[in-house]
Amino acid sequence: MTASEHSPAKGYDPVYAVFDSPLMRELRKEAYGEDVGQHSWVTADELRSDVPRLSLATSSRLLDVGCGPCGPLVFMVKSTGCMGTGLDVSASAIDSGRARASAAGVQDRVALLEGDVNFPTPLVDSSFDAVISLDVVVHLRDRQMFFDEMARLLVPGGRLLLTDAGVITGPISNEEVERRSSNGYTQFVPPGVNESLLEAAGFRLIEQEDRTNSVLFNAMGRLRALLAHRLEVEAVDGKAGYGRQQRYIETVVALSERRALSRIMYLAELAEV
Ligand SMILES: C[S@@+](CC[C@H](N)C(=O)[O-])C[C@H]1O[C@@H](n2cnc3c(N)ncnc32)[C@H](O)[C@@H]1O
Repeated sequence: MTASEHSPAKGYDPVYAVFDSPLMRELRKEAYGEDVGQHSWVTADELRSDVPRLSLATSSRLLDVGCGPCGPLVFMVKSTGCMGTGLDVSASAIDSGRARASAAGVQDRVALLEGDVNFPTPLVDSSFDAVISLDVVVHLRDRQMFFDEMARLLVPGGRLLLTDAGVITGPISNEEVERRSSNGYTQFVPPGVNESLLEAAGFRLIEQEDRTNSVLFNAMGRLRALLAHRLEVEAVDGKAGYGRQQRYIETVVALSERRALSRIMYLAELAEV
């Protein structure tokens, strides 16, 4: 299968093409309170708490896989002075990320690259001290291959911080699976899968945290903002587009409230050789 035959970008591309429009900015501000340019369930408080987990210094090289429009990456580069590389399959995400890095004045410390992590990346072995991948693994077809690739890119002792918003912790109906998967290819896993695949790739799990509350916080905020701006959103996306977004977010809220689908943070360290 070639990259273009199953391009995972199309799910996010339409959103990223208008990501920095005044309406989208307003929706994010109302939804998240503190909009750092994320397009995920990440909150600014989470990012602040994750910076020390990665031990980033000005000389550190950080990779963000599935960086989207680079909100979290730019946040971490700005707050630590490290060098950042972002990789995403969506060209619109990379364009938006470039503009965000420039607006934040960190364009000289941020390199961005379009690529599909369902395939090996062109990045050099052991070229990063830390990797983040926030709410991306749910979209990947072969997570063992992905974890192996992250192990190749990290230096021994390097840290991988990843969040998976698709850990099945309760009953989910077929309609819910379909609505929750509307951003493209989506893979849900039971607890224990990420843990054993990380270990098989040579990582030692050092921390795990349930972050389903961040999904609830962001999704409820997004739902409120969407309802408040219904007519403006319909003018851009049409009634059907608006309806799809509302059903998606309502499903996310319901699954999180029931704790049927959990979002878990994994912090892992690559074994020293
Ligand atoms: C939920 S968004 C998260 C974006 C970003 N990490 C953030 O927190 O704002 C998921 C991202 O994964 C990217 N993605 C999905 N499949 C991918 C793949 N196969 N290779 C690279 N990026 C991918 C999407 O384009 C999207 O930007």
